[in-house]
Amino acid sequence: MNGTTEKGDKKNPELKTHHSYIEELSDLDPSVSIYFTLPEKVGALAEALGIFLEHKVSLDHIESRPSREDTKGYDFYVSCSNNGDELKEAIKALRQKSTSLQILTRQAEYGNKTEIPWFPRKICDLDKFANMILSYGSELDADHPGFTDPVYRTRRKEFADIAYNYRHGQPIPRIKYTDVEIETWRTIFKELTNLYPTHACIQFRHIFPLLMDNCGYNENNIPQLEDVSEFLQDCTGFRLRPVAGLLSSRDFLAGLAFRVFHSTQYIRHPSRPHYTPEPDVCHELLGHVPLFADPAFAQFSQEIGLASLGAPDEYVQKLATCYWFTVEFGLCREDGDLKAYGAGLLSSFGELQYCLSSEPEIRSFDPPKTALQTYPITNYQPIYYVADSFQDAKCKIRDYARTIPKPLTVRYNPYTQALEMVDNKDRILNICKSIQSDISLLEDAIQKVDPRTKSLR
Ligand SMILES: [Fe+2]
Repeated sequence: MNGTTEKGDKKNPELKTHHSYIEELSDLDPSVSIYFTLPEKVGALAEALGIFLEHKVSLDHIESRPSREDTKGYDFYVSCSNNGDELKEAIKALRQKSTSLQILTRQAEYGNKTEIPWFPRKICDLDKFANMILSYGSELDADHPGFTDPVYRTRRKEFADIAYNYRHGQPIPRIKYTDVEIETWRTIFKELTNLYPTHACIQFRHIFPLLMDNCGYNENNIPQLEDVSEFLQDCTGFRLRPVAGLLSSRDFLAGLAFRVFHSTQYIRHPSRPHYTPEPDVCHELLGHVPLFADPAFAQFSQEIGLASLGAPDEYVQKLATCYWFTVEFGLCREDGDLKAYGAGLLSSFGELQYCLSSEPEIRSFDPPKTALQTYPITNYQPIYYVADSFQDAKCKIRDYARTIPKPLTVRYNPYTQALEMVDNKDRILNICKSIQSDISLLEDAIQKVDPRTKSLR
């Protein structure tokens, strides 16, 4: 997925500030997604679609909703096949009818010389795929517990719209959760907190009370994402970002490379507090958040994200599987016992007990093998993978990342919150100098701590 904005875009000054470049549509992109806003006018959509028809561009998907930018107009999102010059002509004609138009494509950067899938370079680039969701958060399947509940569906749309309009750097809007929503949270919170002392890993047990003290974690309050995000930034630099629907694995993992976790903000349907067919705020706040405050776990998560950048699709899938068996369903060893650190376990009263029983099969986390393991999504896991430590899991993922065929090495620069391509001698030497300067600082420090220590070099 690639993002382009028109130069001089007056509609969104933030995009103009952050993305001052243009990437032209490439013939290599097999399919293209386009956002455009049409001013209110009877027949405007038919006219716009007529343009695609005229240029023989076939549409795979189309969505519409009232525009936030142009209060009378409508925003459209279409995904279509790329038939080269004809599509370019269609886009040219569409621009004339639209008050704004944005092209999003999915492939090939680097002057289109190589087919490296696009990835974000700066943290604000995450805005580009915030709305590239596989399904909008208010579109519920027929078997969803809230499918026939109009109140719940309206509420879900409110949450999806908040995320849809969110941009990097903005505070995450605060939610006034209803009594019904808090009751659902209370049920889950009370049950799970009974299990944490015996079932959760030590890092989780250490951080959870801090969240109670600092972020309003208690049975009567659903914590605000903004408060939690600030707390995480203080601990490890991780931050939360609201997400309007389901992201692709590639996009979701790319967020982790920047220490950004895409989080839902809605809560599951009250009729079934023990079941949710998709992640909800209970899963995020109780399952994921505590571990992101742990430095070693944060680093491990970021390693998976960095490994995914520019990786071929099959490797993104393998990394997503490693993510599944660690960040979602991971177990670790603690003084000879097994404990849970995966969010899918720490947010499920039933599976948290089951995973430490004698029933499931336990294997050692080994990325080349774990990455190939199939798994059920709706049932308890038959197999869990155990990490000796987050540090060890990080080294294993880093070794695995080296086996991924991609012609580039990237490094995250936390000062600029951007990725650096380590692709020429000068850059490599500059990084060496920066590491040397860190080593001399450490030498100085260790001499002060213990003057008898020999040189680190
Ligand atoms: Fe999750």
